[in-house]
Amino acid sequence: MIGGKHILLGISGGIAAYKTTFLVRLLIKAGAQVKIVMTQSASSFVSPLTLATLSKNPVMLDFVNEEDGSISWNNHVELGLWADIMLIAPATANTLSKMAHGTCDNLLLATYLSAKCPVYFAPAMDLDMYKHPSTKASIEKLESFGNVMIPAESGELASGLHGEGRMAEPETIIGFIEAHLAKGLPLRGKKVLITAGPTHEAIDPVRFLGNRSTGAMGFELAKRAADLGAKVFLISGPTHLSVENPNIELIRVTSAQEMYGACHAVYTDVDVAICAAAVADYRPKTVATEKIKKKEGDMHIELVRNPDILLSLGEAKKQQFLVGFALETENEMENAKGKLERKHLDGIVLNSLKDEGAGFGGGTNKITFIDKNLDVKTFALKTKPEVASDIWDEIISRIHA
Ligand code: C5P
Repeated sequence: MIGGKHILLGISGGIAAYKTTFLVRLLIKAGAQVKIVMTQSASSFVSPLTLATLSKNPVMLDFVNEEDGSISWNNHVELGLWADIMLIAPATANTLSKMAHGTCDNLLLATYLSAKCPVYFAPAMDLDMYKHPSTKASIEKLESFGNVMIPAESGELASGLHGEGRMAEPETIIGFIEAHLAKGLPLRGKKVLITAGPTHEAIDPVRFLGNRSTGAMGFELAKRAADLGAKVFLISGPTHLSVENPNIELIRVTSAQEMYGACHAVYTDVDVAICAAAVADYRPKTVATEKIKKKEGDMHIELVRNPDILLSLGEAKKQQFLVGFALETENEMENAKGKLERKHLDGIVLNSLKDEGAGFGGGTNKITFIDKNLDVKTFALKTKPEVASDIWDEIISRIHA
């Protein structure tokens, strides 16, 4: 679950900071990307160089970097937006108190205030500090903000005393976050098939018939599904896009016929299928084995129909919730509803090419979601990740209903 995630680790100054070297190693091994912000006092307990080497990223201590006479700025706002998860470990009594009160006198705290992602904190301090009403009040306040505590453990403390206050072990921290993330994931245990991108229909070894689809919408749908806990089969025609998330299996195909075969190979097992690919309706009847030479006069290519993948999935439908796309230029609503019925769909996403910012290319889309009861919901122009999230909200509300 942590694989592919951007993890921003905030290290404050307690002896438990030495454990973050193991924590970073485990996060990297699990496939996460890790950036580290630490307080000045944390750097007395663990070497920034060790952490930079383990995390494969420079470690940030201050708002400003001065190196070789040049000055640069560690942008806490960008860091906060980069993160999928912020983890403060160890979280000292001092840092917890400052977080709870909105104090912002170091880079770690400024980044905490800028982060919009879920925040976890793993306290580490001596037992009396942990028990102190002031620390308890800080923790309660942070929990009231929605931040999540990874409780300290009992055992021998650096002071030589025994009691509660030891930072959770790195394995425990990772297990805690994974279990916590899994609880809030509506697609946990679900398998999802998504088609994306164009298809290329070969004319000869160097030429093909294609279209302008970039695959962006399908890839965003796949990312969102994986973030919501699904195992995703992303079957994509030729695109420049790639995926990082280990829960997405990217199956690259070229032609409509290959896409058809790849879809049916996984379809029986999936819970949701979304066909967002711009599949060529026709392909050349024959593919020349050698490059076609130009000749006098015109040339004719005979085209034959490609299989309609979505229709075939509709006909084979059992438990699957099946969603198609309709990219229309006229009679949008009527055409989309016609497709919904003819292809046995549970929902259809309509893009009208009349809407500025909708359809192929570009970073935005404007959609209308129509379900099989012909309930219609129209959305504003949004970025493709936002549109993907809206589409999944519509699907999830119906599969969990
Ligand atoms: O009928 P039309 O091609 O407009 O329907 C579009 C929908 O059907 C999209 O979801 C597209 O991915 C899917 N489709 C398909 N196979 C085709 C043609 C379209 O899966 N050969």
